[in-house]
Amino acid sequence: GKDGYRHYMEKELHEHPLVIGQTLQRMIDPATRKVVLPEMPFDLASLPRAVITACGSAFFAGVVGRYWLEEIARLPVDIDVASEMRYRNPPLTPGSLGILISQSGETADTLAAMRGLKNAGLPILSVLNAEHSSMARESDVVLGTVAGPEISVASTKAFTAQLTVLACLTIAIARARGELDETGEEELVSALLDLPSRAAEVFTHDDAIRKMASVVAEARDVLYLGRGSAYPVAMEGALKLKEISYIHAEAYAAGEMKHGPISLIDRTVPIVATVPSGVLFDKTLSNLQEAKARGGRLLAFTDEAGADRLSAIAEQTIALPKVHPFVTPIIQTIGVQMLAYETALLKGTDVDQPRNLAKSVTVE
Ligand code: F6R
Repeated sequence: GKDGYRHYMEKELHEHPLVIGQTLQRMIDPATRKVVLPEMPFDLASLPRAVITACGSAFFAGVVGRYWLEEIARLPVDIDVASEMRYRNPPLTPGSLGILISQSGETADTLAAMRGLKNAGLPILSVLNAEHSSMARESDVVLGTVAGPEISVASTKAFTAQLTVLACLTIAIARARGELDETGEEELVSALLDLPSRAAEVFTHDDAIRKMASVVAEARDVLYLGRGSAYPVAMEGALKLKEISYIHAEAYAAGEMKHGPISLIDRTVPIVATVPSGVLFDKTLSNLQEAKARGGRLLAFTDEAGADRLSAIAEQTIALPKVHPFVTPIIQTIGVQMLAYETALLKGTDVDQPRNLAKSVTVE
């Protein structure tokens, strides 16, 4: 049942802290505070590249994973949506690792893309919520997201669990490649172990998120902006808004705005910005200043360290809990998913069963 929540989506949003914690329990040894992965039939130290593929939200989790694997593990990554990957026939570097991400383990395009990578000789590592699924059976290694059943058609907790697994995988690969020493691993693991309690604090902002939703619900079009690992979070926020509130939303890398979409900006197109403090904060802020100068209404998700400077320019600012920069996409995701949910409530749509959508897309 819904345990007293109005929708499965609301219940599942509130399961973020639990699910992140359960997933970490599977991947981090509490005694040594080290990431421990199952036995792998390939050597993580000698991978030349990774090829990631998935659909929808799972694809956005993969994009966050790419930022992590490139920056922290220094592993070259190719990524595409599975519906493209399956027909691209890309030249594959022998020994590369195929990584797929799926909640259901049954998505037709992801399964087909996986088979393509497998036939080309790549070992397959899957990040799956359904551990007894077609993808699980055909993978060399399965890393489980311990999200439990997800009933709401729009993915919520499975997505943060996917990010949690990809974060642990990044640490393991970085360590194997000699890119992360003991201190470095301890710092990143601490950041992950801190997440369940920080994630729970996001819900204390529900009034502020509802206030933001009242602006978004009036709009016909919404622009989501972010840079670095906050860019796929913007994509996730835009997809979730489209999916359940039927409001058109588009995510853009904040630096791309001046190459086109800035022409859209006026008072009627709110801008939802995902801007955690950190190395890209100033760059994103200057993109937002440009948008504001053209009449844009800024609605910003930042953290306690970024709140002062953002509230100087934004109409509404939400200061999410300050976490290690590594894990900011996980905290920011909860904020944008809650915004979509609150907006859909105001629109009165069928939150758990949006029109034209199925939970598991088993046809091409
Ligand atoms: C978005 C959503 C979809 C799925 C996509 C992949 O909220 O739920 O975009 O993420 O259909 O599904 P799985 O993860 O089952 O392969």
